[in-house]
Amino acid sequence: MNEAINPGPEIARQAAALPEISVVVPTFNERDNVTTLYQRLEATFGATPWEVVFVDDNSPDHTWQVVRELSRRDPRVRCIRRIGRRGLSGACIEGILASSAPYAAVIDADLQHDETQLPKMLALLRSGEAELVIGSRYVEGGSADSFDKQRAGISAFATEVAKRTLGVKVSDPMSGFFAIRRDRFEKLAPELSTQGFKILLDIIATARGELRTKEVPFTFGTRLHGESKLDSMVAMDFLGLVLAKLTGDVISLRFILFGLVGTSGLVVHLTTLFIALRLLRLPFAEAQLMGAVVAMTSNFILNNFLTYRDQRLTGFGLVRGLLLFYVVCSVGLFANVGVAFSVYDQEPIWWLAGAAGALMGVVWNYAMSGLFVWRKR
Ligand code: GDD
Ligand code: MN
Repeated sequence: MNEAINPGPEIARQAAALPEISVVVPTFNERDNVTTLYQRLEATFGATPWEVVFVDDNSPDHTWQVVRELSRRDPRVRCIRRIGRRGLSGACIEGILASSAPYAAVIDADLQHDETQLPKMLALLRSGEAELVIGSRYVEGGSADSFDKQRAGISAFATEVAKRTLGVKVSDPMSGFFAIRRDRFEKLAPELSTQGFKILLDIIATARGELRTKEVPFTFGTRLHGESKLDSMVAMDFLGLVLAKLTGDVISLRFILFGLVGTSGLVVHLTTLFIALRLLRLPFAEAQLMGAVVAMTSNFILNNFLTYRDQRLTGFGLVRGLLLFYVVCSVGLFANVGVAFSVYDQEPIWWLAGAAGALMGVVWNYAMSGLFVWRKR
């Protein structure tokens, strides 16, 4: 362990004071970054009493062990080690709720964010000028130079979509760097989605313009060690969050993702059916069955990667889950056809009956998948 972090009189004095700000750091495989971040926080805050809460999702690289070691030398450091759960947003929410300072900040562990902005952000909260302060890459003075062209384009596009659909007014709602008054956060917390990456966007959209907001420019740097955990599923995740907020959270993000996957399944089904009929020249019944099996399998895989990414099945659980998913969907098909028939019986409008049946099928599949396939451990 690093010698520079031996507890000195300053640490003892500060630890006795109540923290004014709790810095929350979500971590997944960041063992080589956390000590440096800790040292930089210490250098940044000076005499201001602070604390840091690392929320680690049981990282395979044992980040939690490094943090635990830090916290044995400095009681201002804490570690929440979550087992059997994954997710950036959920980790941030839990970290903020586990702390009790009047202000909370969220910062990435990989030193891409500029921790020297934190005192300024705290001052804006303290003075009452703002209830939420965002570290922004897109206001004058900020930048995201470390982004490659592709990521910069995606980021700009998503920001535009968020602004237009959700009426978000800030320049960088996708930032992972912000500070907020804890009482305001506490009020919004029950409505926030624990799934996904976009916690700041969720906070802004959920507050519906009620949060006095300021932006502080910073330069998005390059990662110190390790690699990014954001993958291509982030786009779907973002779309789901926008839809959930547009429906006023009547429909959950998970259900929307399940629905999106189901829609992709329809395309898979029709494509398979086409191939089976035209190229393989199978009889219709066999071709239809083949389409259904292929679509169910692709739905299962996508749901496991996206909709239930926080409870992802692996190994034997994956095989068992797939078989259960087949059963659930087969029964769902009966429910679908049954409802469609009875609607058609009352009102012989084909599309109404078809849609009612399909909706019944999705709701059934969703409910039963949650109960049997990806049930909470
Ligand atoms: N606990 C926990 N669980 N932490 C996670 C998880 C998770 O499932 N996934 C990622 N993290 C942590 C990482 O360890 C890191 O500290 C932080 O969250 C950000 O993850 P990165 O993997 O470094 O994300 P990025 O650099 O690609 O994206 C950043 O910039 C985006 C803006 O372009 C993040 O700040 C995003 O939130 C932000 O939208
Ligand atoms: Mn990063």
